[in-house]
Amino acid sequence: MATTEDVGRLAEPDSVATSNLDAWYMDDSQEDQRLPHRRSPNEAVSLDYLKKLGVLYWRVDGEDDPKLQVIRDARGYSYKDVITVSPEKLPNYEQKIKSFFEEHLHTDEEIRFVLEGSGYFDVRDFDERWIRIDCRQGDMIVLPEGIYHRFTLDSNNYIKAMRLFVGEPVWTPLNRPIDDHTSRKKYVATFKASESFETPGSISSASPIAAH
Ligand SMILES: [Fe+2]
Repeated sequence: MATTEDVGRLAEPDSVATSNLDAWYMDDSQEDQRLPHRRSPNEAVSLDYLKKLGVLYWRVDGEDDPKLQVIRDARGYSYKDVITVSPEKLPNYEQKIKSFFEEHLHTDEEIRFVLEGSGYFDVRDFDERWIRIDCRQGDMIVLPEGIYHRFTLDSNNYIKAMRLFVGEPVWTPLNRPIDDHTSRKKYVATFKASESFETPGSISSASPIAAH
C-alpha cells in the first residue's frame, strides 16, 4: 500500500528532468493555426519556465495509471468527462474550434489529460509572447485560473481528452481583454513577480484552487 509520502510524490507535477514535454515560442505568421509555428531557429521553452507561469504538467500512463487518481485526490478533481475534438465527432465543430482559439481565461483551472491524438495549448507569457505547448497522448496539463490561453488542434485534426474539474464544471471562456477580472488580477499577483517566485511544484505551495 502506498504511504503518504508515496502519494505526495506521485501527485507532484513532473520535474524538468523527467519531462519530455515540448514547448516553444511561436512565430508571428498568420498561416494555418494547426501548423507548429516554430521560430527559426527554434526557441524552446522549458517546463521550469512554464511552472513559473503556473502551468503544471504530469506524464500519466493512460486512464488506469494509479497516478491519475492520486493527482485527482490531491487536487480535488472530483469531476471528469471525456471530450473528442475532431470534425466528425464534435457538434458545431467550426464554431467550437474558433472559440477555443480566441484568447481567453477561466475562473478556474483548465485541466486536460490527453487520451488519444494531440493538440496545442498556447499560453501568454508576461512579455505578451505566445508559447505553444505540444500535448500528446499521456500528457496531463493544468492551466491556472486567470492565464490567457487558447487551444487548437494540430494538423492531425484529432484529440480525445479527459476534462477534470473541482466540483461542478464551468467551461465558460472569458475573452480578452478582461484584465480587470478578479481571476486575472489574482493570476498576475501570484505569478508575475517571478523573482520572488515560489516553485509551484508542490501541492502545498500551488495556488489555491478557485471556488466558483
Ligand atoms: Fe480555455
